Amino acid sequence: MTEDIRSIAKRAPFLQPMTPWGKPMTVRMTSAGRFGWVTDRRGYRYEEAHPKTGQPWPEIPPSILTVWKAVAETPTPPDCCLVNYYSEKARMGLHQDKDEADFGFPVVSISLGDPATFRIGGSNRKDPTQSVTLESGDVLLMGGEARLAFHGIDRIKFGGSTLLPDGGRINLTLRRVAPAGV
Ligand code: SIN
Ligand code: FE2
Repeated sequence: MTEDIRSIAKRAPFLQPMTPWGKPMTVRMTSAGRFGWVTDRRGYRYEEAHPKTGQPWPEIPPSILTVWKAVAETPTPPDCCLVNYYSEKARMGLHQDKDEADFGFPVVSISLGDPATFRIGGSNRKDPTQSVTLESGDVLLMGGEARLAFHGIDRIKFGGSTLLPDGGRINLTLRRVAPAGV
């Protein structure tokens, strides 16, 4: 799977996204599938082309689609695989994934490389949260009541895995962005 991610990143290089309020994110991102998730001064959204190359995103590799098929409990395939790369100091603030059309589809997350402290709460920002360590190879599904749970990454344990040659963590999130059948 890491080879497949490397070939995604060759065709769709990692970007350093900018939040709508002008702060660079610490996580590097790219995508595969029909839609890629992007953010800049114009806001959060899905785009059908890489913002720098102007090319469509690479297809989601079969090795990654297999995980969705195994756990998502739907015949509808995902149309976005967001690839996040966390280097030593990277983190991701608490947020909801809610730019997709149909929250009946789950979000399936795959963690690779260094362990991370993942924080998850309820569907209100003020709900109590709990922390879980996500290790390399862990698959996490946010579906049903948890589909709109606030979540984020507090920190990674840099060097805690030897999977990636330069260290750090990769997280893949599979989503269905368009309604089924579209
Ligand atoms: C995300 O919410 O997009 C990423 C979560 C993670 O890195 O585990
Ligand atoms: Fe998320």
